Amino acid sequence: MATQFPLKAFEHLRTPFYYYDLDLLRQSLDVLKNEARKHRVHVHYAVKANANPRILSHVQMAGFGADCVSGGEIRAAIQCGFSADKIVFAGVGKADWEINLALEHDIFCFNVESLPELEIINELAAQKSKKARVALRINPDVQADTHHYIRTGSKENKFGINLSDLESIVEAAQAMAHIDLVGIHFHIGSQITEMNNFAGLAARVNDIQERLLRMHWIPEHVNLGGGLGIDYHHPDEAAIPDFADYFATLRRMLKLRPEQTLHVEPGRSVVGQCGSLIARVLYVKDSSEKHFAILDAGMTELIRPALYQAYHKIEHISTANNADFQKYDVVGPICESSDCFGKEVELPLLKRGDLVAIRSAGAYGEIMSSNYNCRPNPAAYFSDDLQGYNQA
Ligand code: LLP
Repeated sequence: MATQFPLKAFEHLRTPFYYYDLDLLRQSLDVLKNEARKHRVHVHYAVKANANPRILSHVQMAGFGADCVSGGEIRAAIQCGFSADKIVFAGVGKADWEINLALEHDIFCFNVESLPELEIINELAAQKSKKARVALRINPDVQADTHHYIRTGSKENKFGINLSDLESIVEAAQAMAHIDLVGIHFHIGSQITEMNNFAGLAARVNDIQERLLRMHWIPEHVNLGGGLGIDYHHPDEAAIPDFADYFATLRRMLKLRPEQTLHVEPGRSVVGQCGSLIARVLYVKDSSEKHFAILDAGMTELIRPALYQAYHKIEHISTANNADFQKYDVVGPICESSDCFGKEVELPLLKRGDLVAIRSAGAYGEIMSSNYNCRPNPAAYFSDDLQGYNQA
């Protein structure tokens, strides 16, 4: 389904802002829910992708759990009604207050990334006379075909417990009085579109489970993290990711015992396509070399192109049928050369005041915005509220 922009409403709104297509979000959540049920997969939405309360409550209403990486995310999830017994808590640097907060709420599970962290969780749980439920995040040393900044599952990354330490940390955890060792956890990276990568992870997990079996330990659950990518080039044609293929791949490749549950932590694939950043053209600057379209949105609102050289489709949404095209470098107003959304982007002729949509910005967009250059946070608007204005 194609996102329809309510242009008449947009005319009255101050740019830049995020626009969320809630119909698309609801449809994506429906598909995800049905496929998860069919393949018996427990879904914990990765809050880091988008923690806008309105988005969070839609995800929560679909019945999913939450994957949190900070005390702030745990609070946001609980405030939006996520049940604590579906919250997982990951991260290499959990502070004591964050561990205490998670213990107070009796969350489903800590995804533990190192021995020193495990020791502190044991100590803090002891102070509360509780047992912390723990999954060990193991670094599977599997390469993912994605940008190196968002690749996490190989040896040189800071994430997870090294495979060579597997047996010793399992033994250590089992010996701790206030740790209840319940699972194993993995995450190899983000924006992964090659199903082979997930198949490779599943194969590695099978080997790891063999090793654990030799120690007579069968984890209650296996969590394969997030990472399913979206199609940034076709936000309308591929609006809903292929959750069926993803789950089928995992189920086909992974050897689980009937009593073991399978968990995943998708973020981008849930919310990525439902959000667009809407900006206005401030100036068109022509030089002998280039045409620059200077927008009122910049890397402060959407940092992905500057940080990861990420591609986002840029659309000129003010004109329906302008036949003349021009190539533009589409840039923001921030004092950094990397503040560029796209180079040599072919668009219908732009002029001052025209509206531009930067698509597929629902994940890691609004949440990663910053106040650099003392810029205010972007507003967010939702299709449900602007429906009366639809142009159709
Ligand atoms: N689980 C863990 C342990 C993670 O580290 C992540 C993402 C996820 C789940 C969710 O992954 P997803 O399904 O969204 O791929 N800011 C970057 C992405 C960073 C991802 C960090 N971890 C970007 O804009 O591409």
